[in-house]
Amino acid sequence: MKKKIISTVLSVTMAASLAGCALAPNQDEGGAAATGDGELQVGIVLPTRDEPRWIQDEASFTSILGDAGFTSEVLFSQGSSATELTNVESLIEKGIDVLVICAQDATAAAQAVEVAHAAGVEVICYDRLITDTDAVDYYVTFNSFDVGVQQGQYLIDAYAGQTDVPLYLYSGATTDNNAFIFFAGAWSVLSEAVANGQFTVANCDAIEPYIGQTLDVTADHEALSNILGTITTNWDFNTAKSLAEANLVANDASLKGDVAILAPNDGTARAIADAFNADADVTSFVVTGQDCETASLGYICSGLQSMTIWKNTASLASTTCDMVNAILSGGTPSTSTTYNNGVSDVPSNETAVTVITLDNINEPVDAGYVSASDIEGYPG
Ligand code: BGC
Repeated sequence: MKKKIISTVLSVTMAASLAGCALAPNQDEGGAAATGDGELQVGIVLPTRDEPRWIQDEASFTSILGDAGFTSEVLFSQGSSATELTNVESLIEKGIDVLVICAQDATAAAQAVEVAHAAGVEVICYDRLITDTDAVDYYVTFNSFDVGVQQGQYLIDAYAGQTDVPLYLYSGATTDNNAFIFFAGAWSVLSEAVANGQFTVANCDAIEPYIGQTLDVTADHEALSNILGTITTNWDFNTAKSLAEANLVANDASLKGDVAILAPNDGTARAIADAFNADADVTSFVVTGQDCETASLGYICSGLQSMTIWKNTASLASTTCDMVNAILSGGTPSTSTTYNNGVSDVPSNETAVTVITLDNINEPVDAGYVSASDIEGYPG
């Protein structure tokens, strides 16, 4: 296990150095360290070490910010908003000018960024938007709506021409704004497919009034909260597995056979796949994921997971590094869009995502993002 983590980090480092970032204002081409004011320049706070996704982000940041000549430190909140606040406070004490934060909880994190703002620190939300506060300066994100669209579309294409296919819906944590965006993206295409009879929703009564309608993350937030509340995995493998098992126990064979499963990310996809795989009345299943984790690429090789979404953390860290560079140079980072966080339209940059299936599983390998030897059953 340890060996696998180390080699993942190494390959991410490789991809990170390919992505790169402009040199820090005081760094020469020879790579001499930035002078700054002798204090830490960039503080990065990530949600947890317990998911490979965030370990990849850590490796990307360390490599890209270090190569660009910035001093930085990464701290993990380990699932606790209280630890997140303590982390932010300790980074402020170390003199940071920019805080890059991926919130544990979208609303609770408002307190931490308000403390940072009060100390004159610029705040960049990373991957997850912090809501209901004006203490957010910028947002760097993947195109999360498209993540959901791609997941939903994959299920539609997999069962093209069929009717009454049981559809099991699962979501991420309701404390994560992204969980709403992923689900709204998926529902933007699945809604019509349920309305026209391709799918029958098998585990979520709360969605019934919205069949044939799309759901907007901001305007329909309360409806989405109610729906997600009944199908949330809380981004937790055990919760995902227990929920899937409970859904299977509650349903008879008419809602089994060949089924479609919207699973929000790779960790939960594997847990849910294990539950469906163990049910004798489930003949086959198509299950989505995201994050391009090596364990899920292995599940794809063995047919237990159908797809994942590659979100190249090196690109996201590189975009963040460019923003840091602009801020520390006294300029304004260039942005391409805005995201509303309930209080303001936050200037943002969005990064595209790639669907990975067995057909193009070589892409993240060839790019050095993951190592072939870490993927169980990798072809070739
Ligand atoms: C991220 C996903 C991740 C999930 C659970 C989301 O906010 O965008 O990539 O799988 O959190 O950590």
